[in-house]
Amino acid sequence: MQRFYGLVWMCLLLAVPTGEASVLSEEGLLKEDTITILLEGADEDVTPKRPQIQFNARFSNNPDEGCFLDPEQDECLQNCHYNSSAKTFIVIHGWTMSGLFESWLHKLVEALQQREPHANIIVVDWMSLAHQLYPDAVNNTKLVGRETAVLIDWLQEKGNMSLKNVHLIGYSLGAHVAGFAGNHVTGTLARITGLDPAGPMFEDVAAHKRLSPDDAEFVDVLHTYTREALGVSIGIKMPIGHIDIYPNGGDYQPGCGLSDVLGALAYGNFGEAVKCEHERSVHLFVDSLINKDKESFAFQCTDSGRFKKGICLSCRKNRCNAIGYNAKKSTSKRNSKMYLKTRAQMPYKVYHYQLKMHIFNYMDEQETTEPTFSVTLVGTTNDSIPLSLNVPEEIGFNLTNTFLVYSEEDIGDLLSIKLNWEGTKQSWFSFWSSSYWFPAQNKEKELHVRRIRVKSGETQQKFTFCLKDLHESGIAPGGELVFEKCRDGWEVKSRKRVNL
Ligand SMILES: *[C@@H]1O[C@H](CO)[C@@H](O)[C@H](O)[C@H]1NC(C)=O
Ligand SMILES: *[C@@H]1O[C@H](CO)[C@@H](O)[C@H](O)[C@H]1NC(C)=O
Ligand SMILES: *[C@@H]1O[C@H](CO)[C@@H](O)[C@H](O)[C@H]1NC(C)=O
Ligand SMILES: *[C@@H]1O[C@H](CO)[C@@H](O)[C@H](O)[C@H]1NC(C)=O
Ligand SMILES: *[C@@H]1O[C@H](CO)[C@@H](O)[C@H](O)[C@H]1NC(C)=O
Repeated sequence: MQRFYGLVWMCLLLAVPTGEASVLSEEGLLKEDTITILLEGADEDVTPKRPQIQFNARFSNNPDEGCFLDPEQDECLQNCHYNSSAKTFIVIHGWTMSGLFESWLHKLVEALQQREPHANIIVVDWMSLAHQLYPDAVNNTKLVGRETAVLIDWLQEKGNMSLKNVHLIGYSLGAHVAGFAGNHVTGTLARITGLDPAGPMFEDVAAHKRLSPDDAEFVDVLHTYTREALGVSIGIKMPIGHIDIYPNGGDYQPGCGLSDVLGALAYGNFGEAVKCEHERSVHLFVDSLINKDKESFAFQCTDSGRFKKGICLSCRKNRCNAIGYNAKKSTSKRNSKMYLKTRAQMPYKVYHYQLKMHIFNYMDEQETTEPTFSVTLVGTTNDSIPLSLNVPEEIGFNLTNTFLVYSEEDIGDLLSIKLNWEGTKQSWFSFWSSSYWFPAQNKEKELHVRRIRVKSGETQQKFTFCLKDLHESGIAPGGELVFEKCRDGWEVKSRKRVNL
């Protein structure tokens, strides 16, 4: 009998000090006096001290409650209703300053439950080892990784778990814990997802000292806060998985308010903004779990600058992939960096378009002012807002320019495009003098566009849009040109390419 209570004690842990109302205490199993008897009678390893590492198979809003798996207590598998044929997710938190579980952890666990109702979801609680000075917490990641590997080996041996079904998800320092676990486990884990893996003390170190592609069959990483300040970046910058996804370039996340660093400092919400960007990796993953019909895609590119220019929207040869839970194991070579744009809130999905425009400039001697173009995409279900054509460098005249635009709305099939040249750069006076009194002078700033070629990142469809009014290809500040779909695909000039 004593032994039985001991087991219940190990697997189903309740809020010990207060003996709060819980199912077991309501049933009279664990009244205060029962606990006292239990503790007195416990001559072996039953200690009231909270272990440094716990594996909670029933994580809830009260983290002192749950069902704890202990590799020394095989009975826990049954008590915690371990389902050996279902998937197993192991979620690992990171460094903490508060010593408390943060709300993202509950959201992630809930989203996993919703998406995979039969799955075993185990939260690695290493709070006391993580609530340390950062270098000490870093040092503890190896120990926690090894202990997690012991748990996984026990689940393989005693729980008939197949490694094919195991997916570790680690946030910040927890990503490296997952890496160490994968390194120590007998066999190879199916998957590790690193959510903005911690950068300080891991950047540029050898592969076995951090999360790396050797740690699982498939290692996918979301990098959301990789901006250097004082020589360090909170999130690791280097690619460390089979695929490394940098949403919004991996530095500034929309809606986090850090694009205005000085403003954030002035208003004292710098810490909030940092947390927002670092944690965005988790929310992107949650989004991929719960908004299945709004799957975000990322595109391989050598760097963020080229992606912003719209050069990289190809899906050929595994060059694009869904992000988060829906990411497919990529067979391409290691370390492929991928990029995408996102919205500021969930669902984060946007619709990416590559625009190619040959911009003719027939005036040579004029001072070339940089045009400020925007496009409005008119689709079968909705129109986009005016989307500005951002040019990282300069617009090339008499050349084909490539732009990236993205719409937060699903516009359906693209029907036509409005190209506008914002006229606001001119002062009222110069507008008045040039346009009103000398309308011809505005012609000096005229550019010509005859065609826009468009490729959708999400559908990979290509279309060519031609001028609605074929005789009017000129556009000046304040002006507009309208293009209508005239051809499916792009004309392929001299060389014929296959697989297009
Ligand atoms: C265990 O998992 C399998 C596969 O997901 C599922 O079909 C089965 O119903 C689960 N069993 C229980 C008792 O939940
Ligand atoms: C790192 O952690 C180990 C235990 O895992 C401990 O023995 C060692 O003293 C720690 N080292 C430092 C520098 O804190
Ligand atoms: C594992 O499989 C063995 C043999 O198939 C079975 O006897 C045992 O009950 C299983 N254990 C669990 C936890 O499912
Ligand atoms: C573009 O080409 C036109 C006609 O070929 C030429 O007159 C003009 O000078 C060129 N503009 C630039 C900026 O090279
Ligand atoms: C169309 O897009 C606008 C914003 O551009 C949005 O507010 C509106 O809800 C969308 N309408 C539909 C039917 O999706």
